[in-house]
Amino acid sequence: MRRLKREEIGELGLYEFQGYIGAMTSPTFGGWKGTDRLIELLNIESMERPKILEAGCSTGYITRYVAQRFDCEIVGVDISGLLLDIAEEESRKLNLKNISFRYANVEDLPFSDNTFDAVYGEAITALVPDPLKVLNEYKRVLKPGGKVATLDLLMRESLSQELVEETNEVMSGVLGTTVKIRSFQEWQQIFEESGFGSIQIHRYYEDLFKREYSTGAKARITCKLLYHLIVNREVRRKLIPPLRFAKKFQKALKGGNYGYLIFAGVK
Ligand SMILES: C[S@@+](CC[C@H](N)C(=O)[O-])C[C@H]1O[C@@H](n2cnc3c(N)ncnc32)[C@H](O)[C@@H]1O
Repeated sequence: MRRLKREEIGELGLYEFQGYIGAMTSPTFGGWKGTDRLIELLNIESMERPKILEAGCSTGYITRYVAQRFDCEIVGVDISGLLLDIAEEESRKLNLKNISFRYANVEDLPFSDNTFDAVYGEAITALVPDPLKVLNEYKRVLKPGGKVATLDLLMRESLSQELVEETNEVMSGVLGTTVKIRSFQEWQQIFEESGFGSIQIHRYYEDLFKREYSTGAKARITCKLLYHLIVNREVRRKLIPPLRFAKKFQKALKGGNYGYLIFAGVK
């Protein structure tokens, strides 16, 4: 990844900035345990050299994990060219032949109908204004009998309205889109409307935001974060509100107010 100029860094979105400083290397919600649970529901072993799509793949850590574990052909899509560049670079280092990446918006996937045996996405379906539209897009590109699985943030019904609104506002501001944190019941309704069969919805309240960094990586990320916060006014402007909110959020996390849910279904 080439070194970016200060103005370019100031223009990065939150996830791109995280990718740039080396912080986008493990699943956003549920940690690797959540990813394993999601993959298990897809039952990839039962498919013969399946074609798999990962939505919102970021720098491709989950894509590479799947590509290395299964005899499959996998495509990761994301809306950030910078994150995809990192994804390609990291995958080349591993010499993986069954993996590719493509720029795409999950709301309008550049694939024909009935292309994939499995489609999954972690921490992406809740980040779009209309999750149902995205689920329909997953369904369109899946072959008949193909499997879908998604993993997303969930709030408990008991979460205070004030915190719900603040979470939505901060997340929408940071991500530059309309983000709405939903309860289990709200998600259930969306999944039922999606028209997938054999629906399963599971919820979990552990390992939320569990990023797994080595001590060295953690030190490097912290130094880079502090450096850019000090030298780049635009980075400060963008990151200080969510960093402030993060403290409140961590407190709410400890109270068990958030969790993640995994949805699985069949076309
Ligand atoms: C919260 S990150 C999740 C990354 C990874 N799936 C994980 O679980 O760690 C969301 C990712 O989705 C991408 N993204 C956001 N909106 C998108 C869209 N409409 N289409 C495709 N990708 C999108 C972002 O660029 C980012 O890489």
